[in-house]
Amino acid sequence: MGRPGFRILGLAASLRRASVHRGIVRAAHEVAPGRMSCEGFDLSRIPYFDQDVEDEGNPPAVEELREKIRAYDAVLIASPEYDYAIPGILTSALDWCLRSRHDPTPLRHKPVGIVGASPGGAGTARGQMVLRQVLLHPPAYVMPEPQMLIPFSREKFDPETGDLTDEGTRERLARFLAALAEWSVRFER
Ligand SMILES: Cc1cc2nc3c(=O)[nH]c(=O)nc-3n(C[C@H](O)[C@H](O)[C@H](O)COP(=O)(O)O)c2cc1C
Repeated sequence: MGRPGFRILGLAASLRRASVHRGIVRAAHEVAPGRMSCEGFDLSRIPYFDQDVEDEGNPPAVEELREKIRAYDAVLIASPEYDYAIPGILTSALDWCLRSRHDPTPLRHKPVGIVGASPGGAGTARGQMVLRQVLLHPPAYVMPEPQMLIPFSREKFDPETGDLTDEGTRERLARFLAALAEWSVRFER
């Protein structure tokens, strides 16, 4: 069951054109149940974190990302596992967003769902544990279950486009988004 009007911000932590994680965010938009929606924010717009720049004020794209995280009901992070951890592009975006220098971090008490796909069998299990640890800092409210690990991604995504083609995984994603909406209701004030 999707909650009417429930808005998810989707962050894909890969810049690759045919990225399967970009494909996951697109699929989330397509399969979101009911009147739920998932809108992607392109992390290629976010520069590497630089404290000198921060001293002078956050760049406009960073401010836009922080504002969107604040405004949306939940955040979906679709991230590859890099080196048993998470990609630098995501670490850097989170550095900008976890800071409370100019205003409080928008990720504090924000409901978050994590999803990831890998060519091997681990399905980003190790990377997701690292991301969960990072998100303890604000702290964000990362949904503990269900977990969404997608192993053997070559069998489930179109290699040319990154589109999620596997019907069973699309159905799992729809159930995962519905669960994220249910999880988020607990923290409404
Ligand atoms: C720098 C780098 C490090 C990687 N490290 C891992 C890893 O630790 N574990 C893993 O399962 N896959 C690893 N991979 C493979 C990625 O899971 C795979 O390339 C994935 O499809 C990337 O997601 P994307 O299609 O969204 O770009 C790595 C890939 C790169 C480029």
